[in-house]
Amino acid sequence: MTIRSVIRGVGSYLPANVVTNEELSKTVDTSDLWIQERTGIKQRHIAADGEMTSDLAIAAGRQAMERAGLTSDDIDLFVVATATPDQTFPATAAKVQAALGRPGVPSFDIQAVCSGFVYGLSVVDNFMKCGQVKSALFIGAETFSRILDWEDRGTCVLFGDGAGAVALTAETGQGSTADRGVLSTHLHSDGTQHDLLYVDGGVSSTQTTGHVRMEGREVFRHAVVNLASTVREALEANDITIDDVDWLVPHQANKRILESTAKKLRISGDKVIVTVDQHANTSAASIPLALATGVDDGRIQTGQLVLMEAMGGGFTWGSALVRM
Ligand code: UT7
Repeated sequence: MTIRSVIRGVGSYLPANVVTNEELSKTVDTSDLWIQERTGIKQRHIAADGEMTSDLAIAAGRQAMERAGLTSDDIDLFVVATATPDQTFPATAAKVQAALGRPGVPSFDIQAVCSGFVYGLSVVDNFMKCGQVKSALFIGAETFSRILDWEDRGTCVLFGDGAGAVALTAETGQGSTADRGVLSTHLHSDGTQHDLLYVDGGVSSTQTTGHVRMEGREVFRHAVVNLASTVREALEANDITIDDVDWLVPHQANKRILESTAKKLRISGDKVIVTVDQHANTSAASIPLALATGVDDGRIQTGQLVLMEAMGGGFTWGSALVRM
């Protein structure tokens, strides 16, 4: 018998304000054509003034919980993956917990930037496998617009705001890939690549929030290699092939990265959930937002095998195989 962390409900929230490429090209030297050709992005959602990461997280989290048929009294653990918390402390997860009315149980944030959802899912899964919690609300939420340099066309066109959430419960499985739940997670990081993708500020360095800095072309090159490698690792660990996977739900950074990775893995584009055109890169929120999109439109069904993969600042990267 094996404990499995089963995703019972997914939720999402996107700020109402949609900013198109055309609108961006009025304030920064870019064009809709360049952005679409180089990234596949058509638009992004941007949080309103005063709208915080916790607001996005609470909305997505509440929806995931309700769709799972759970109330906050049922939740044993609140985790938020974010690189853009409301405050340096307390954790954004604590604000979610307070808003949903469940004081007393643990809450904390995970910081692995764009890999935050895969990292957090691994942490939650291990809490469940250890028997420490029986249910969890796990949310990826970001207001990346707050850390963009809106004069840097190389980065400001790439990101957006949003939140996606999963409500999980611990169930008993047989220990095979037929089980529902998280089947395996695979995490990596390489801190020596810091200079290729980072924020040039922080509490202990500049006492400012700082802005995203990125060597896009180099990050792109590493992303395709690392993502294909961590997907293969997940397949091997579970003794399955890419043909067994129903859906690839990748971190959404760039449509060309999604296509190159899919080609390398020999998975049909029809099996890849793509939301980067609508949401841009929402960092830790991008995988659960894509998952919610696939579930909401009926493509992703209970019992199907979903492979998630992500890569981000650190570098961090990783994958997770989940039977829905
Ligand atoms: O989620 C975390 C991981 N992040 C990523 O995975 C992002 C990975 N990188 C990328 O997605 C791509 O590298 C970018 C979309 C960031 C850039 O695409 P690229 O094809 O690698 O372009 P580039 O950086 O090589 O730039 C090509 C040209 C440059 O002009 P010159 O030097 O050739 O004259 C840039 O200055 O495009 C120019 N450029 C732009 N032009 C119009 C860069 N940004 C823009 C822009 N609009 N927004």
